[in-house]
Formats: sequence, structure tokens, C-alpha cells
Amino acid sequence: MMRTRPLKVALLGCGVVGSEVARIMTTHADDLTQRIGAPVELVGVAVRRPSKVREGIDPALITTDATALLKRGDIDVVIEVIGGIEPARSLITTAFENGASVVSANKALLAEDGAALHAAAEQHGRDLYYEAAVAGAIPLVRPMRESLAGDKINRVMGIVNGTTNFILDKMDSTGAGYQEALDEATALGYAEADPTADVEGYDAAAKAAILAGIAFHTRVRLDDVYREGMTEVSASDFASAKRMGCTIKLLAILERAADGASVTARVHPAMIPLTHPLASVREAYNAVFVEAEAAGRLMFYGPGAGGSPTASAVLGDLVAVCRNKLAEATGPGESAYTQLPVSTMGDVVTRYHISLDVADKPGVLAQVATTFAEHGVSIDTVRQQGRPDGVGNEASLVVVTHRAPDAALSGTVEALRKLDTVRGVASIMRVEGE
Ligand code: HSE
Repeated sequence: MMRTRPLKVALLGCGVVGSEVARIMTTHADDLTQRIGAPVELVGVAVRRPSKVREGIDPALITTDATALLKRGDIDVVIEVIGGIEPARSLITTAFENGASVVSANKALLAEDGAALHAAAEQHGRDLYYEAAVAGAIPLVRPMRESLAGDKINRVMGIVNGTTNFILDKMDSTGAGYQEALDEATALGYAEADPTADVEGYDAAAKAAILAGIAFHTRVRLDDVYREGMTEVSASDFASAKRMGCTIKLLAILERAADGASVTARVHPAMIPLTHPLASVREAYNAVFVEAEAAGRLMFYGPGAGGSPTASAVLGDLVAVCRNKLAEATGPGESAYTQLPVSTMGDVVTRYHISLDVADKPGVLAQVATTFAEHGVSIDTVRQQGRPDGVGNEASLVVVTHRAPDAALSGTVEALRKLDTVRGVASIMRVEGE
């Protein structure tokens, strides 16, 4: 039975994503009505700058008083696309207190305070959906929360930041340095004027925290995620990666420990083999590789940002939340029953690619090899060559290790730096995906 009384929707924020959500709600109104089983009506749009011209949006819907909009008491669903911690957190709480379900695209807030928001949703018997918070249009949160709910996810490895993937892809394909590739990303609108959140890995770390919580049914906060940005990745790192049949990606890696007793979550640049599916993710695309016990290996791929793709994810959530409302039910809430501790980076088992500038004289290789052995790190390959810049009596030594705890690997590097014969550590990069 089709309900004729509309479900009322309030939109908080009307930027690139919000305006696209409003547009699609209007242009696809009939389809949305059929899919939901009732019409949806946009009854208010809270903005900071009311004078801005917003094509396709009835000016009578615009307000600067978001709290008053939420306190009308008749709102069924609130769509929050403001971003940031406050006022978004207070507004979402107000929405639940006033009987609305919430669809949010706010990764920073969910990574920092997801548990409290889920608790508020549950307390008021409402939904909190956030497909758009991770990897834009790519269906990932719902497949992991629902489709894989009967399986056991052991590992998630993904490219969840389009800006940095664009920069790294340019460096790889053109030989450009970091700054040159960043400038191109800025000129094309991929990178923001202040690119810190993207290039230092904060954006990816927030997404990693959200995905780790869902994957392992435990609470993982932003502070639990080890984070390294990609500003130090150089053209010579790419040259080394190429020699190994690899490329370099900024990866979010979430793992269940082999004994199942803990999990780890990390974001850092890493070399991956060209044969790995994530290596072929080009430009600003995102992709997430999920390894589950019964399902095996799954890959989710698509546009991870932008107005339309993010609006697609928001609208999918809107339909789901409205359907739940009509069924007088709620969808899945937080699942954190495993309560697994999050281990530190030192416990992560990985491989290193280390490039050293060393004195080219007898015994140096043995000294370097001994340092690895003393830290319990086994060497996989060693390559030595004279310095390309022709510096006399010096050589470049590239060591690739077998898998070892990160603490042992970083201890090795620290000890190498202290050797008289090691003139410098040119680069250190983890190797993943083998
Ligand atoms: N700035 C992000 C990216 C999109 O480049 O992927 C929003 O999370």
C-alpha cells in the first residue's frame, strides 16, 4: 500500500553534496516515492549563508536556524552533510531527541564519536546510516554491515582517499615529484587549498576507523589508527618500486591478528605489486579489498568523492531509512560485541623496503646484514649499486626484508642510522599485498 502522507526530510548543509541531494530528491521524486512506499518531502534546508543563490531549491525552505528546524517535531529524517565535529554532533543528537532518524556523510564525527551517536540513535529507537562517510558512492558500509554479517572479515585493505591516489598516480605515470603532482591536483580541483587532511592521511584514517569498527565488530576510534601521510614519497621511491615490479599507494589496512585476539588499523604509503588489484586503481578512484573467511576476496571500486557520487550514497541511505520508518523498524545499529583491543603499530607484521646510502668499502654489507640479524629481521633481497650521482666511495644499498614486527623493523632502521658506514637512510617504505 502506498502511503500518501509524505515523510518529512530536513537537510543540514547545502554545499556540493547537499545541493545535489536536494536536486535528485526533486528530479527523482516519483521513483523515490515508488521505492520507499511514500513520498518524501524536503521541508527545510539549514545553511550558514542564506543569501547564496541555490538553484532548484525553494528559498522558503532555507533557514539559518538548524536547531529550530529539528525541533519542529515532525521531521522523519535528517540528512547531515555539514561535516566536522560541531555543530554537527549537537544537531544529530537534537535530531534523535526529536524523533528523527539520521543519514550522515560525516566521517570525522563518526570516527571520533560514533559510539555515542549510535547509542543516542538506539536510545530513541531511530536509525543512523552513513554510507557516504566512507568511499563516496561505493557501496561498502552496507555490504560490510549487512551482506557480510554472516561471515568473518579478517582483513581490509583499501585506497580510501581520491586526492592522494590522484597525486601518487601522477607521480607514477609521469615521474613527477610530490609538489608538482600536488599542484596539478589543486589546479584540477582534486586537492583543496589546504590539502593537509588528505595528504597527511587524516581523512583516510577517519575512514579506516569506521571500517575497522564495522569489519571486526569492535570499537575503533580515530586515535587508535596509526597514520603516516604521503608527503615524503619521492620520485626515487617510485623508481625503486618500479624496479621491484611495484607501485606506491596510500593504503588503509585493517587486520585481525593471527590469534584473533586483537586488531590493528593503519594508514600509510606502501609499495604493492603491480599484479595486485589495488595497483590498477588510477586517478582519484577509490577501491577497497576485503578478505572474509567464507566469501574469500572481494573488491569494491568506484568514485570515492564528489557531489553526485556522494549524493548517491546519501540517497540510498535515505530510501533505506524511510523504508524502516514505514515498517516501524530500525536497521542495524552499532555492533561492537567482540570488544577486541586495538594493537599498536609495533605489533603489525609487515615488510620493509629500505634504501641506504653507504660507504663502498669491504665489510659494510656484512655490518648492515648483522644489524638486521641482531633485531631478528630476515633479509629477502639486497641490491647494491654505485651512486647514480657519481659520489665517490659511496653506494646505494636497497634491502627488502621478509615479514617481521614493525617494532623490529623500525629498531633496525634506528640502529642502521647509527652506523658510521651508513651515510643516510634515503627511504623506508612498507611493502604490502603479496
Ligand atoms: N577528500 C576526500 C578524497 C574525499 O580525496 O577522497 C572526501 O572524503
